[in-house]
Amino acid sequence: MDRPGETTHFGFRDVPLGDKQTLVNDVFHSVASRYDLMNDLMSGGLHRVWKDIMITALDPPRGDRPFALLDVAGGTGDISFRAAKAAGVGFHATVCDINTEMLAVGRERAAKRHLETRVDFVEGNAEALAFADRSFDAYTIAFGIRNVPRIDLALEEAYRVLKPGSRFLCLEFSTVEMPGLDRLYDLFSFKVIPPLGRMITGDAESYQYLVESIRKFPRPNAFADMIRDAGFARVNWQILSGGIVALHSGWRL
Ligand SMILES: C[S@@+](CC[C@H](N)C(=O)[O-])C[C@H]1O[C@@H](n2cnc3c(N)ncnc32)[C@H](O)[C@@H]1O
Repeated sequence: MDRPGETTHFGFRDVPLGDKQTLVNDVFHSVASRYDLMNDLMSGGLHRVWKDIMITALDPPRGDRPFALLDVAGGTGDISFRAAKAAGVGFHATVCDINTEMLAVGRERAAKRHLETRVDFVEGNAEALAFADRSFDAYTIAFGIRNVPRIDLALEEAYRVLKPGSRFLCLEFSTVEMPGLDRLYDLFSFKVIPPLGRMITGDAESYQYLVESIRKFPRPNAFADMIRDAGFARVNWQILSGGIVALHSGWRL
């Protein structure tokens, strides 16, 4: 898995591929306790709408049919909680995340919602999932994949653990190309978000990374090609909020 000499982006910086995960882990270690509050403040609550759109696309069964969701980079559990709320009694979610602090916040939130039996929290790396081949009915990853150093490996792993006939869904920040909105968005991203991060979490650098990493993420058609390269079929995407976010989807057939 090591690719000696290779570099990648950590925000706008080039770093050795092997160093990115540690840097990313520091970011989420630092912001975990205020992560959910910051999401609301930064997006004006819009992240809730984007996540609900993902759950509508997921369309988990309402009845008692067993349905196993794997929510990778699931952090504090938002996607799994929303899916559990929409689903029937046959639903079970596994939140897999590399960061213990994010998972700890997630477990507390699950307990408050009485969802401990329907949502599990497991520490793990998207690039090397500790789950059997063909074991899940759906795979979701929300605002997670751009943090993963080797996105190609994460996509291959997503394909491996999905049952044939099941779906991959990825919600991620994307590219704003709407004239007018692009300049406003840049201004907000670079001038408002890092100072807001400093005010709420005491850490502007983590939010500087966040806005930079968004700019470095592939455009929707290039990301769709990566999903296809991992083996997925019927790949498509939906642009949300003028390109601030895209929801990509593919099927393991
Ligand atoms: C922006 S948060 C998203 C959390 C959640 N999905 C949501 O939408 O609120 C990104 C998450 O990706 C996780 N992450 C980063 N690299 C990862 C990796 N290689 N494997 C699994 N999780 C990873 C981080 O720990 C963090 O919890």
